[in-house]
Amino acid sequence: MIFYFSATGNSLAAARSIAAVSKDTISDIGHATKCSAYNFFMQQGENLGFVFPVYAWSTPRIVDEFIKKVHFITGNGKPFVPGYCYVVITCGSEVGSAARFFEEELSHYRSIRLDASYSIQTVGNCIYLYEPAQGAKQEKALAKADRQIKDVAYHIDGKRMVHQEHRGTVGAIASHFTNKSAKSYSVEPFHVDSELCNGCGICVAVCPTNTISLRSGAPVWEGNECTQCLACIHRCPCNASQFGKKTARRSRYLNPVMASVVTPHASVRFGEEDPDEPVYIPMIVKKDKKRQSNIKNARQRISAFTAHARRGKEHTYPYADKTAALQRLRRQNARKRQFPEDTNGVSNADDTNSVDNTSETQKNKGTK
Ligand SMILES: Cc1cc2nc3c(=O)[nH]c(=O)nc-3n(C[C@H](O)[C@H](O)[C@H](O)COP(=O)(O)O)c2cc1C
Ligand code: SF4
Ligand code: SF4
Repeated sequence: MIFYFSATGNSLAAARSIAAVSKDTISDIGHATKCSAYNFFMQQGENLGFVFPVYAWSTPRIVDEFIKKVHFITGNGKPFVPGYCYVVITCGSEVGSAARFFEEELSHYRSIRLDASYSIQTVGNCIYLYEPAQGAKQEKALAKADRQIKDVAYHIDGKRMVHQEHRGTVGAIASHFTNKSAKSYSVEPFHVDSELCNGCGICVAVCPTNTISLRSGAPVWEGNECTQCLACIHRCPCNASQFGKKTARRSRYLNPVMASVVTPHASVRFGEEDPDEPVYIPMIVKKDKKRQSNIKNARQRISAFTAHARRGKEHTYPYADKTAALQRLRRQNARKRQFPEDTNGVSNADDTNSVDNTSETQKNKGTK
């Protein structure tokens, strides 16, 4: 199982690519936190992965809380021991000692040892400090990130015991100051431009910590749970939600995998549609062919995932199912080669669940 947290999609893109290579399933820490759902069934010895962004050269507070609260339930009631445990941290430039802090937390609260740690350099989304890369610069950064993700995914598939992150000298020093102090965030800088806001409530739905509520049709930020992921800023379709004075002038950022989707729990808040149905938001995007095709691919992947979830396999990634079907097919063919007489219409008890060997069936039909 891969647990991920993502506000603007960089970590989601990484988690999905890793899951596709390692035939694993992914689960959203943001969704678990929003719903206070911390129990997960795990198989002894299965891989355990974590993918999330670095915040101020440290781990996001929401991830710290998740590690404290999560409960891995095993079939035999014994503490869960993963076969291989790794962390992948996405960043704009460097992660400092974030992986070391995460390692300490995991060992302290869950008694789990971290076997490997990686980082991916991608588009920085800290919009109150700088404008996230746009246009060609953004595409270049995403292409570079894609190459790094592929590399990391194959290391993970090979269960390599390595610690290779972009730590950075400044980052490594700065982490020691920010690790504790920077995790209590004030919601004061958040505000809404009431002329732009249409009261859609997307910011409420995407906030993983339930910090935002709608009052008289406009969002209000309250409490001290905010993890400063900035999802409420980047995912507002009207650029209406703001942080401080500078964000009004800056372009928002969304990784193509998140450019057109809002998490399924969005609709629970509005009570309009089926809670399992993702809500698609039409985004105003530049008529750029590559970007359009990225969004189209992302939509196809998302609808495949949704169709699969509707069949009752919520946490199963579609590729995992496809691979299982191929493995069954290979087993079935090997058995047919070993016992050729079985193929002449004699049904095989072991094969009741297996996939129909289409070419074989067509051959039999042809001979009849
Ligand atoms: C509050 C905040 C702090 C950040 N701090 C760092 C940092 O210390 N170093 C860095 O390289 N990137 C930093 N970033 C950038 C994100 O880590 C990076 O864009 C990440 O890929 C976002 O992941 P997501 O799209 O999955 O949310 C920060 C972003 C935010 C919002
Ligand atoms: S997402 Fe934007 S437009 Fe929608 S309610 Fe929130 S601030 Fe207003
Ligand atoms: S209020 Fe905004 S920045 Fe804070 S946790 Fe919610 S979505 Fe993230």
